[in-house]
Amino acid sequence: MKALVQRRYGSAAFGDLDVPVPGSGEVLLEVRAAGVDMGTWHVLTGKPYLMRILGFGFRGPKTPRPGRDVAGVVTRIGPGVTEFAVGDEVFGTCEGAFAEYAVAPVSRLARKPAGLSFTEAAAVPISGGTALQGLREVQAGQRVLVLGAGGGVGSFGVQIAKAKGAHVTGVCSTRKVELVRSLGADEVFDYTKADFTGTYDLILDCGGNRPLSRLRKASTPRGTVVLVGAETDGSLTGGLERALRAVALNPFVSQKLVMLMSTERADIFDELRVLIEAGSVKPAVERTFPLPEALEAIEHVYSRRSLGKVVVTI
Ligand SMILES: NC(=O)c1ccc[n+]([C@@H]2O[C@H](COP(=O)([O-])OP(=O)(O)OC[C@H]3O[C@@H](n4cnc5c(N)ncnc54)[C@H](OP(=O)(O)O)[C@@H]3O)[C@@H](O)[C@H]2O)c1
Repeated sequence: MKALVQRRYGSAAFGDLDVPVPGSGEVLLEVRAAGVDMGTWHVLTGKPYLMRILGFGFRGPKTPRPGRDVAGVVTRIGPGVTEFAVGDEVFGTCEGAFAEYAVAPVSRLARKPAGLSFTEAAAVPISGGTALQGLREVQAGQRVLVLGAGGGVGSFGVQIAKAKGAHVTGVCSTRKVELVRSLGADEVFDYTKADFTGTYDLILDCGGNRPLSRLRKASTPRGTVVLVGAETDGSLTGGLERALRAVALNPFVSQKLVMLMSTERADIFDELRVLIEAGSVKPAVERTFPLPEALEAIEHVYSRRSLGKVVVTI
């Protein structure tokens, strides 16, 4: 099978590999689509360097097969698997999604939402799951601010907060204003013209790297600031140092400052499936790239030109 292979940080190429065999608790998928997000770029480049110490592999990537978000068809069942059968259409996360076949643990798979294409389904797991976990405590009637609302996580964040009955304000650059509005945001700030105003019960920060003091000022006294991520030019710690400072500051301030470390689990993907099937959430896929152009797809996301989500189709 054709697959993207990465032997060291910063370089990957397509090669011919044997189709993998599913182990216990795993299934083999015929991959139909693979989602791309900022995390894909980080794992490919090994930047910021701090992540190499945090377990992604010091000298080179621990997993030589990039691509995590996946949607496809179960073609073989590993020992002990009862959750899925051959022919089932699923979505979730795996290692090596930029390939014709991939093995995925059933603990990270759910049934593909009815009415969603494989392309749309592959856009959901990491970005949708991260937004869902970041918005856990939102109650109906609360005011929610989503920074980076036109990006992968943000585009799900706006819709999930709306589904919970919140008043949602999105922040993005000019090109993304229409998208964020179409996702249901009650208000949209184009930060290239004027930065956001107001106070919020929960701030989901998916982009922009604003100082913690700025975020706390925009938060109600008992509000929550969820730091999802921020891209900086720094190769050493990237946007992580701000999140680490938030953790250190948290015990001393009235607001709750959270460094989000999202997890990938079948029950989270099932929760997203329910929201999608209810019509509350629809993945905003801007563009697809064929498998041989997977590296261009990753570069497109890194360039910040993407609106919502980008998907590689197989
Ligand atoms: N903590 C976790 O578990 C977790 C999980 C997933 C992702 N992440 C991280 O979260 C971040 C977002 O991920 P993503 O996949 O959503 O990336 P993305 O698709 O690139 O979206 C990020 C958005 O940030 C926006 N942005 C940049 N500068 C901004 C500013 N000054 N104000 C407001 N928005 C600004 C960009 O939009 P504009 O073009 O509008 O500027 C972009 O749309 C990344 O750093 C990623 O690594 C963390």
